[in-house]
Amino acid sequence: MKLRERCPSICVAAALASIGEQLDPLEDACTTHMTLSRRAEFIGGRLAAKQALRDAGHANPVVAADAQGVPIFPVGYVGSIAHKYGRAVAIAARSSAAQGLGIDLEFDENHDEASLAAEVITDVEQRWLAAVCAAEPMLLSPSTLVLAAKEAIYKAVFQITRTAFDFDDAEVRFAPGSRSFRAVRFPGVENLTVHGEYELSGRWVLAVAFTTA
Ligand SMILES: CC(C)(COP(=O)(O)OP(=O)(O)OC[C@H]1O[C@@H](n2cnc3c(N)ncnc32)[C@H](O)[C@@H]1OP(=O)(O)O)[C@@H](O)C(=O)NCCC(=O)NCCS
Repeated sequence: MKLRERCPSICVAAALASIGEQLDPLEDACTTHMTLSRRAEFIGGRLAAKQALRDAGHANPVVAADAQGVPIFPVGYVGSIAHKYGRAVAIAARSSAAQGLGIDLEFDENHDEASLAAEVITDVEQRWLAAVCAAEPMLLSPSTLVLAAKEAIYKAVFQITRTAFDFDDAEVRFAPGSRSFRAVRFPGVENLTVHGEYELSGRWVLAVAFTTA
């Protein structure tokens, strides 16, 4: 990911879902009503987040969650968590590096491309999608890439604005060939800029977004 070269202070880490690992009591309290599998993915996310935070300079991180499920990163740090099919990823950085961070992990599978496209892709996005597909011949599901980018954008923005929005409310634009994107439209704060990058590895789609004022 070019992000590592551009912003080395932004750290990404991965972990597997796990039920054996011990959580901090504040984190554990978030899992009270979770099923076993949900708890396992929650723990995987915490393992990844804590690794990313340690890489970013925090000695002993705890990542609880607020009432809306948004992860609470330690004071002075920002970050985000995602999980899919037993794998978890997280991104973290000191608050001086970004106002908000978002991450999403998806699996590139072409189950029902037409209905996913109808849900996540706007008419404007549809117009440039062919250029992205031409640059990514291995991609099975272009909608999954758009979904990942938009969810990363959503997570990066929501932690700042606390404004929920849907796929139609946001518009993303990719730069074909560079595996980067930016949000051209989303509700919330006017002077917020959101950039992102993605990586395709095997069938995994990893997208990260970072907001700056
Ligand atoms: C927040 C949301 C995007 C998460 O996506 P998901 O596919 O369900 O799950 P993911 O694995 O990608 O991410 C889950 C993690 O996101 C984080 N999260 C949850 N709500 C969040 C929010 N509002 N803002 C930022 N991060 C959030 C949590 O860390 C969660 O993991 P945890 O509960 O184990 O800590 C989704 O639940 C949601 O609220 N969607 C509605 C809004 C939407 O999709 N709009 C369209 C985007 S343009």
